[in-house]
Amino acid sequence: MNNIDHLIWGVTTAAAQTEGAFDKDGRGLSIWDSFTKKSKNIKDRTNNQVATNFYERYKEDIDLSVEIGLKIFRFSISWSRILPNGSGVINKKGIAFYDKIIDYCLEVGIEPWVTTYHWDLPQRLQDKGGWRNREVITDYENYINVLKFYFVDRVKNWILINEAIVCIGAGYFLGIHAPGKRGVKNFSASIHHILLAQAKGYRVLKGKKEIKVGTAVSCTKIESHSNKKKDLNAAKRIDALMNRLCIEPYIGLGYPEKELPLVKRIKKYVQQGDMEEMKVDFDFWGIQTYTREVVKSAWYIPYLGSVLIKPSKRKVPVSVMGWETYPDGIQYFLERFSTYDSEKPLWLSECGMALSEKEDDTKRIEYYKKVIECMKKISDKGINLQGILLWTLVDNFEWAEGFIPKFGIISLDKITLNRKMKKTACWLKDYLSNHSV
Ligand code: BGC
Repeated sequence: MNNIDHLIWGVTTAAAQTEGAFDKDGRGLSIWDSFTKKSKNIKDRTNNQVATNFYERYKEDIDLSVEIGLKIFRFSISWSRILPNGSGVINKKGIAFYDKIIDYCLEVGIEPWVTTYHWDLPQRLQDKGGWRNREVITDYENYINVLKFYFVDRVKNWILINEAIVCIGAGYFLGIHAPGKRGVKNFSASIHHILLAQAKGYRVLKGKKEIKVGTAVSCTKIESHSNKKKDLNAAKRIDALMNRLCIEPYIGLGYPEKELPLVKRIKKYVQQGDMEEMKVDFDFWGIQTYTREVVKSAWYIPYLGSVLIKPSKRKVPVSVMGWETYPDGIQYFLERFSTYDSEKPLWLSECGMALSEKEDDTKRIEYYKKVIECMKKISDKGINLQGILLWTLVDNFEWAEGFIPKFGIISLDKITLNRKMKKTACWLKDYLSNHSV
């Protein structure tokens, strides 16, 4: 078997899912604070006001990561903790909080990686239309300038937007995530604005060579239900939506217009010079993949003309998320991305498996073993894979699913919020003590 001990292992977390302290020390509200106020938006009627209380217990989480042998601690910054109104006055207590995290990581020898946006837009900006309003691009640029001013001296690796397609698709098209907007107009404007904002953010942050600035993209393997032409085309449309729309503009290929008729609607929001501006050479791609979807043609579905065939109908095992767990997608996407540019560093910046409260954690160990097998299979293919960031450390607030799915390798006591290593964490600790450089 091929050796993959050079790969760097770390973990990913996100502010809205972990921090809690939603109204402490001058933080402004985010769209998730508003969205969770309507309890029916969240499956178990919970909210993220306390979450895992990472705000107060961050040292424990960082210590546990070090104990397991992880080398990267990726966390996201809550925009409204830094700029309570989304722009304007800076909340010094917010800066102090992230200073503490960064400094503590460096002190105990784990590399801090920052995600600048993991879905928690300041509510004040949403009041002006959120990602639907082009002005948000300037607000994002200003926010990135603030982050650069305060943190770039210590943070060398940056991920700008986490999974644009998921946060805009779920939040501005399907309405199942904050801010709960629906429809093609909301989607088309918002997707263009967030992608352009990301390109501008890249230009703000990029400066010194040692500062690495990338993005994290959601990737879902799409397969056609049959070999019929109409199903094959339906699969191409969904693939273009899920796996190309938020990637190809940056490499100068533009939006996938030919395969995805929806692009015509997006183009209404494209102004002169935008596509040129969007060509940025990220220092790395963060690939995040969990599942696979099978697609068939459906003339009655507007814009997409396709439906997904539910995994339960396909008779494949599903996780508590209702997803088919599909580690083979990792190999598929790493190979696919290296055809864009074989030199470009790639990170598997999220992968993981959700279990229910009752399920045995050994299932997750089996999943991570499969992840390792995938890595081994590609290790001699000349793919520039740098490392793996797990989703996630501690069981946390899983967006509209509340606290039901457990993605953590560490459990959280509901009452005391105490953390306890699960079997996966113990197994990983043992694996990394033998397999990391
Ligand atoms: C997101 C996480 C989320 C995970 C599982 C990823 O796409 O970045 O925030 O918890 O998927 O749904």
